[in-house]
Amino acid sequence: MIFYFTATGNSLYAAKQLDETRISIAQAIHDKKMHYQAEQIGIVCPVFGHEVPELVREFLEAAVFETPYFYMILTYGNRHGGAAELAEQMLQKYGICASYINVLLMADNFLPAFDMNEQRAIDKKVEEQLETIREDIKNRRQYIAPVTDADRAAHREYLARRARMPEDAFSKLYRITDDCIGCKICTRVCPKNCFTVENQRSVWHPGGCITCMACIHACPMMAIQMNMPEKNPGARYRNENISICEIVDANDQLHEAQ
Ligand SMILES: Cc1cc2nc3c(=O)[nH]c(=O)nc-3n(C[C@H](O)[C@H](O)[C@H](O)COP(=O)(O)O)c2cc1C
Repeated sequence: MIFYFTATGNSLYAAKQLDETRISIAQAIHDKKMHYQAEQIGIVCPVFGHEVPELVREFLEAAVFETPYFYMILTYGNRHGGAAELAEQMLQKYGICASYINVLLMADNFLPAFDMNEQRAIDKKVEEQLETIREDIKNRRQYIAPVTDADRAAHREYLARRARMPEDAFSKLYRITDDCIGCKICTRVCPKNCFTVENQRSVWHPGGCITCMACIHACPMMAIQMNMPEKNPGARYRNENISICEIVDANDQLHEAQ
């Protein structure tokens, strides 16, 4: 059994390589009874600022896992900043003892820092990394990915930078341009239900936004733009092995509301 959270498909692709029983965290978060039992239980998700996304944290805090082998795979694009150690500390806080935590380098979907066309072109040896992880899990390896002082320093630096950001920075993250055709894709890929369409035009409600960027990458008109400089505002990303329907299936909250 593997739980995953994904915005642009990397983590879902990894989950598909690791277990046939896959459950989206954006859906499982609504389970009445969050008690899961299996021979092995995995979590796959991206790192945001070297840490686990808020939605995944909420799920891990609320859920109970009964398994002899709990593992976590953290997908990242450039610098994991000690993500395995930070995740281990977080899990311990929630009373979860992980046997295995590893990081998996994939395309970086963070638009302010990276050009998606360039990211697509870099060979990050994903298949080789996945093969190692698959073998490790098959062999029930006990392992937490090592973290260096440079990783810890990078995380401290990131936290200091974040603390200096204006409080309303996140509520002004996106804007919808006149290119919007009201197709509603953003309303279906958002795991937090932050979009409505009014008068055939998308409206972003930043309240619950976890800045996963699923919306901005999925918009077929590129009508969602960041209110900060992007490396390449004309390029968006979705894992090449994952369809937009799979992202919708993973994150769609509207069927919950109906
Ligand atoms: C808000 C945000 C923060 C991110 N922070 C980091 C980070 O600290 N380090 C890193 O290497 N990648 C970072 N990334 C990149 C993603 O972790 C990476 O592209 C991941 O594989 C995306 O997974 P997904 O396609 O399943 O959503 C960040 C992405 C977003 C959207």
